[in-house]
Amino acid sequence: MKLLFAGAAVFLVRASASLYNESSLNHTCVLSEPYLSCSAQATPAKADSCCVETYGGLLLSTQFWDTYTGLESQGQTLPADTWTLHGLWPDFCNGSYTQYCDLSRQYDPSPSPNTTNGLPNGTLVQPYTGPNIGTFVERFGKYNLLEYMNKYWVSQGSANSDFWGHEFSKHATCFSTFDVPCYGPRYVEHEDTIDYFQTAILYYRRLPTWGWLAAAGIRPSNTTTYSLADMQRALTTGYGALPYIGCTGPRLNQTAAGANSTDAGRTVLAETWYYLHVFGRPQDGVSLPVNASGSVSSCAKAPGALHYPLRAKGSST
Ligand SMILES: *[C@@H]1O[C@H](CO)[C@@H](O)[C@H](O)[C@H]1NC(C)=O
Ligand SMILES: *[C@@H]1O[C@H](CO)[C@@H](O)[C@H](O)[C@H]1NC(C)=O
Ligand SMILES: *[C@@H]1O[C@H](CO)[C@@H](O)[C@H](O)[C@H]1NC(C)=O
Ligand SMILES: *[C@@H]1O[C@H](CO)[C@@H](O)[C@H](O)[C@H]1NC(C)=O
Ligand SMILES: *[C@@H]1O[C@H](CO)[C@@H](O)[C@H](O)[C@H]1NC(C)=O
Ligand SMILES: *[C@@H]1O[C@H](CO)[C@@H](O)[C@H](O)[C@H]1NC(C)=O
Ligand SMILES: *[C@@H]1O[C@H](CO)[C@@H](O)[C@H](O)[C@H]1NC(C)=O
Ligand SMILES: *[C@@H]1O[C@H](CO)[C@@H](O)[C@H](O)[C@H]1NC(C)=O
Ligand SMILES: *[C@@H]1O[C@H](CO)[C@@H](O)[C@H](O)[C@H]1NC(C)=O
Repeated sequence: MKLLFAGAAVFLVRASASLYNESSLNHTCVLSEPYLSCSAQATPAKADSCCVETYGGLLLSTQFWDTYTGLESQGQTLPADTWTLHGLWPDFCNGSYTQYCDLSRQYDPSPSPNTTNGLPNGTLVQPYTGPNIGTFVERFGKYNLLEYMNKYWVSQGSANSDFWGHEFSKHATCFSTFDVPCYGPRYVEHEDTIDYFQTAILYYRRLPTWGWLAAAGIRPSNTTTYSLADMQRALTTGYGALPYIGCTGPRLNQTAAGANSTDAGRTVLAETWYYLHVFGRPQDGVSLPVNASGSVSSCAKAPGALHYPLRAKGSST
């Protein structure tokens, strides 16, 4: 889910099976220059869009700190001492973004927003009612991938597979490099979903948010509070660029501790978004960290204003 974004978001309406209507021939990426996304060469006129990301070149690898899932009784729990994977998103180089770019690959049972442009006049994104996207992974025989996803790509308030379907259809369909023609004339239905899941995990595994914070003495606690600046310093040291840090919970000026404060930032640590540019295909994992742009946090900035809560009993395994 990507609900917050500062800066002007521009949405384009697309319902075709391909962003650029390209042919499925000749996408032999070892033969092409792996240009850096968002560089002057990373345009459909200068590069093969299947081999260089030319659509959503500002990538965001995003994670959650949830304290419960709401589906613990069904065995849906959180991994101990680890932030969970949210998704891998293709923003435009200027920070705006599109969503649900290919409605022929719509596997989200609860589209959010429910139109392509998020407005009542957009194209309606119909809820998906077929077999959940996890069954696609099974059909490729990748049970270990499914197991990993159930452990680290965990949803709050919905089945994990519904969340994966949401991330794929809302975000992955807006990458040029995961577009169906890129897989050639022998494309096997749903191989793009497996490719996206593996790529999202590739970046996620390089971003140990829990460990980077812990290295600076910032650990989950229901008694200690922390400062945004210290979290930003810890994550920038680990990552090499400033990520976006998102908070939920009450605004500081609405809490007893922040009475009289003019700081209206939120007070409970909840997510991080790591920005990157990639050389060639995102799938190949050659990337550069980029500072977050636009709003870099929704959290309160006052010293000691932030909670990094322990997980609820029974939610972490
Ligand atoms: C792709 O084809 C569709 C349907 O023919 C058309 O509406 C759309 O403008 C085309 N897009 C591009 C980028 O050429
Ligand atoms: C693919 O490459 C062949 C050989 O260079 C060329 O003849 C053909 O036109 C190309 N097809 C497309 C769709 O680019
Ligand atoms: C951002 O870039 C996209 C894609 O190039 C473009 O369609 C959009 O108009 C730009 N938005 C702004 C606010 O410049
Ligand atoms: C789409 O979502 C909006 C806002 O959440 C809601 O008011 C509307 O009824 C929904 N439309 C459909 C067709 O589900
Ligand atoms: C949809 O509505 C928005 C805001 O109401 C407006 O700015 C936009 O031009 C409309 N788009 C279309 C395609 O009608
Ligand atoms: C807020 O201001 C009031 C009135 O000046 C003062 O009595 C109170 O102690 C202040 N609260 C905090 C948390 O600083
Ligand atoms: C807190 O700040 C927000 C945003 O400035 C404001 O809308 C709200 O009224 C403030 N709340 C209190 C209790 O001061
Ligand atoms: C991020 O911003 C800082 C402070 O402006 C700057 O020193 C640093 O070079 C930037 N890092 C990257 C990767 O752009
Ligand atoms: C810590 O706080 C979280 C969030 O409010 C709560 O879910 C959890 O149960 C608390 N843990 C303990 C050990 O008190």
